[in-house]
Amino acid sequence: MHIQEHISLKPYNTFGIESSARYFVSVNTIEELQEALAMPNYLKKFLLGGGSNILLTGAIDALVIHVNLKGISIEHEREHQIHISCMAGENWHELVRYCIKNNYGGMENMSLIPGNVGTAPIQNIGAYGVELKDIFLKCSAIEIATAKEVSFSHSECDFGYRNSIFKSTHKGKYVITRVTFRLTKVKHNIQTQYGAIQEQLTSNNIEDPTIKDISDAVIAIRQSKLPDPKELGNSGSFFKNPVVDIKTFNTFNAKFPEAPYYEVSDREFKIPAGWLIEQAGFKGSRYGDAGVHKNQALVLVNYGDATGAQIWELALKIQEKVRTDFGILIEPEVNVF
Ligand code: EPU
Repeated sequence: MHIQEHISLKPYNTFGIESSARYFVSVNTIEELQEALAMPNYLKKFLLGGGSNILLTGAIDALVIHVNLKGISIEHEREHQIHISCMAGENWHELVRYCIKNNYGGMENMSLIPGNVGTAPIQNIGAYGVELKDIFLKCSAIEIATAKEVSFSHSECDFGYRNSIFKSTHKGKYVITRVTFRLTKVKHNIQTQYGAIQEQLTSNNIEDPTIKDISDAVIAIRQSKLPDPKELGNSGSFFKNPVVDIKTFNTFNAKFPEAPYYEVSDREFKIPAGWLIEQAGFKGSRYGDAGVHKNQALVLVNYGDATGAQIWELALKIQEKVRTDFGILIEPEVNVF
């Protein structure tokens, strides 16, 4: 295990923000991870996965542990179902591609989401009508304080919209090392209810889509709306879509009847933050190298040399304007350090 000092974190975050790690180590095995976690307590530990959901606003004065655990295996297989176990450091979309290639269904709607497998459960990633919780079976993790291995079942993770115990009560306490998914081998549960998918399939004359067709449709939609982090630094949706109570919703809806919304329950409504930010006038705006994407107002972008502090300043400006214009608080989805 090789511990480096003063390492640039620019290649390790999809925003492409310049920041540095006081100490840095990339771990390839569980034993190396345990060894790194057991380093003296005075040394703070900072766990780094795919770097696709973080905004670094300064240097990281800690031991940055880059979780680089690799491997995909079949844990259990029956006629209709398969359990695929995947190590935390695998790239999410590479896993999706592996599943599509082998005709394992369940992940296709989540094609092309940036980031790694190990960080996917933390915020219960989701897209186009499917969330990670729909295919999640269990995960293994190491407790940071003790370096002991533990397992979490689906119910123990307490998944919610862009949320899990790893973002609430267990925040910063565990490193996920492996995730097991329950996927279908036949009779796939094809999900086309999301309008954009249906439109994409219709325009390609596909009536009875395979999981590959769904994946291709999602990839085409994402590529048309969301910037590729390799070309333009970003972290996907910067904000979560706010969920408001019925009273707030009724006031909002009476004033802005044209605004889109989704009913979460009969007492809760979700309003697209992208719509709020666009109406607040920020879509496509640019302040130095920090900006709001021209096709999807939920995505903040780094045109090159923006600092994390500049992106954060823009985020706060947007949050404040949306609050004064609509009386609704939008909160970051991205973890800010
Ligand atoms: N909208 C606007 N202006 C915009 C963006 C969106 O008016 O600039 C409106 C759209 O017209 C539409 C509604 O907002 O009526 C929803 O837009 P979209 O379908 O693009 O989805 P979203 O709610 O903005 C969420 C996820 C995305 C995911 C898509 C598709 C969150 C925070 N974001 O975005 O996830 O890809 O749905 O399922 O829930 C991510 O988390 O990084 C991410 C990209």
